[in-house]
Amino acid sequence: MRVSSISLRDFRNYAEADITVEDGCVVLVGSNGQGKTNLVEALNFLSTLGSHRTSVESAMIRSGQNAAIIRVHLAHQDRQILLEAQLNRDGANKAQFNRGAAKLRDFPRYIATVLFAPEDLMLIRGDPANRRKFLDDLIVARVPRLYSVLSDYDRALKQRNTLLKTARLAAGGIDKLTTLDIWDDRLVTLGSEIMVERQRLIRDLSTPVMMAYRSIAGDSHSPQLMMKESISVVGPDGHRDDERAGHSDSAAGNSAIHSVAATARAFSRVLAAERSAEVDRGVTLFGPHRDDVEFSLNGLPTKGYASHGETWSYALSLRLGAARLLREESVLGDPILILDDVFAELDTSRRERLATAVSDFEQVFITAAVRHDVPESLLQQVFSVDRGTIARTQE
Ligand SMILES: Nc1ncnc2c1ncn2[C@@H]1O[C@H](COP(=O)(O)OP(=O)(O)OP(=O)(O)O)[C@@H](O)[C@H]1O
Ligand SMILES: [Mg+2]
Repeated sequence: MRVSSISLRDFRNYAEADITVEDGCVVLVGSNGQGKTNLVEALNFLSTLGSHRTSVESAMIRSGQNAAIIRVHLAHQDRQILLEAQLNRDGANKAQFNRGAAKLRDFPRYIATVLFAPEDLMLIRGDPANRRKFLDDLIVARVPRLYSVLSDYDRALKQRNTLLKTARLAAGGIDKLTTLDIWDDRLVTLGSEIMVERQRLIRDLSTPVMMAYRSIAGDSHSPQLMMKESISVVGPDGHRDDERAGHSDSAAGNSAIHSVAATARAFSRVLAAERSAEVDRGVTLFGPHRDDVEFSLNGLPTKGYASHGETWSYALSLRLGAARLLREESVLGDPILILDDVFAELDTSRRERLATAVSDFEQVFITAAVRHDVPESLLQQVFSVDRGTIARTQE
């Protein structure tokens, strides 16, 4: 799949921008703060339905305006698709598919992107929320239906936390606890599906990430990915749940994936056993919102151990591995790769290796403040970005 045109209206610092692009590498060059990241953020929004740098959606609407529009033509073999998203400051966002009314949450069925950015170092060094977002963006790209499951889980979690807090404070808390059962069921149904999808992802991602690491770092180190789940460590009697024993601490790549039903049973048992602890704390302590994935290199966790260069190689490998996994299994073909400001951070050998690794993807968007930082072989279509205007330069 590839983008053939992008139009923006009142998106970030763009009042109006229209570009036509071909397959291969599209390089956006401009000084700091001109709108390079803004443009690729718009593209990435259509596939992830969020921003990679803010959770405040209205930040994407140009200041002083009420709505932003992102319109993208996609070419998928002979098929042309037009996606349009309208972000509204007040009221719900709107979407169109081939000019007919559509649901934004269906867009991941039509467009997949993989974005690399300097912030990816946080995948290794940052808190678990960074890694959960990495996993969740990918499970949505693999199974678009999961977008609704994740948002419904989020809502159920908020409701349940509110109830737990009031149950703790209210004298007649018991009534609330009956209502809590209903939310437990909802949390378990949705949460188990998320957990199983994440396990399946980690299993399938392990090999592509290992191959990517070797091609980017140029050595034979072995990265390993392992799910760390909150529900597997506590069983009915305070010990490990037998049904899930050996799961959380063994490499997910080598262990069987539990069924949604088995995961749901284990999740339910934990919630029942730990209810008083949760009421005391007034917050949901178990579930996919508490899970993490551990990245390790040669048997040592990357967090706290990996060198700066290794951390970079690992972060790039996670993205590249993800891109290769999507390429292998998606009906959409290659995901669109976005390399936002990545080359400036890399030494020459990593730059060249990354350039080689991405060069066989159908389309790659690259942003750079300094044109010279981008390997020569990738300078195919170059656009200059200047204060919210974008124009193709003569190569
Ligand atoms: N909602 C908005 N309305 C108007 N301007 C905005 C909005 N959001 C961001 N901007 C402006 O967009 C600019 C940042 O653009 P962007 O992040 O794309 O820069 P960039 O070209 O990627 O720069 P760098 O090389 O530093 O990464 C800033 O000047 C910021 O003030
Ligand atoms: Mg930028």
